[in-house]
Amino acid sequence: MSATSPTDGTAAGRHSADRQPLRSRTGRDGGEAEDSPLIRLLGVRKGYPEGGGVRVVLDGLDLVIRRGESLAVVGPSGSGKSTLLNLIGAMEGPDAGTIGFGGEDLTTLDETARTLFRRRHLGFIFQQLNLVPTLTVLENLLLPLELNGVLNREGRRYARELLERVGLQGREDTFPELLSGGERQRVAVARALVHGPDLLLADEPTGSLDGATAQTVLGLFNELRRERGMTALIATHSTDVAAAADRVVALQGGRLQEVAAA
Ligand SMILES: Nc1ncnc2c1ncn2[C@@H]1O[C@H](COP(=O)(O)OP(=O)(O)O)[C@@H](O)[C@H]1O
Ligand SMILES: [Mg+2]
Repeated sequence: MSATSPTDGTAAGRHSADRQPLRSRTGRDGGEAEDSPLIRLLGVRKGYPEGGGVRVVLDGLDLVIRRGESLAVVGPSGSGKSTLLNLIGAMEGPDAGTIGFGGEDLTTLDETARTLFRRRHLGFIFQQLNLVPTLTVLENLLLPLELNGVLNREGRRYARELLERVGLQGREDTFPELLSGGERQRVAVARALVHGPDLLLADEPTGSLDGATAQTVLGLFNELRRERGMTALIATHSTDVAAAADRVVALQGGRLQEVAAA
């Protein structure tokens, strides 16, 4: 991943004029029902070069995620959970297959369009967090608003509200390196939510949190799904996190399997 812009992974300019949703821009929205699929993966393959050959990580995945749904992806370390999130987040492209988002095929977008797509529609909690070390906690939260050209009084108020909701009130002016791992993770959580994304991609978002704080964060995800119809895709090792999701799928051997609800 690029080291340039931690919120969307690219260094593309910050002058984004068009604030319309992707679906409306394509003219294919057509008053889609609330429960229509937000994401549709068809035959997605992804591999990485290894020892002169290719190591296949995702081996022809099909997956549908409905609007407003929360889906947990579980699987052993190295099974491809982060790879799957990166593909759906248009951080990289698949070797084969299509990735539909609200009727648009992400694999057909050029780099600029992918950057704008990420910036407007996605909240990404990276496994490595990607906080900006030279910005304070509050400034890290304001960055997605600034990149989207919507940094105003209401945005600042909401940034502070989110910090409070993840228990970081009073830490606004602290720099990330002075925070604990769990506090940093909560900054990354709040930053991914501050611009009201349609889709949250959360890569092991509670890995550094104690049980109670993890429940607070999961509760926040669910509140935002109810309040604004956000969809959430969460990669996790935690059975608690998986249990809080509407649906669980398991990645193993490059394939996805539906896991029966507990
Ligand atoms: N950029 C990359 N280059 C080469 N190999 C990669 C890259 N990203 C992931 N991989 C490999 O793909 C496999 C799946 O990785 P990952 O998606 O991070 O798994 P998980 O998140 O489930 O632990 C691993 O074997 C990893 O080494
Ligand atoms: Mg991972």
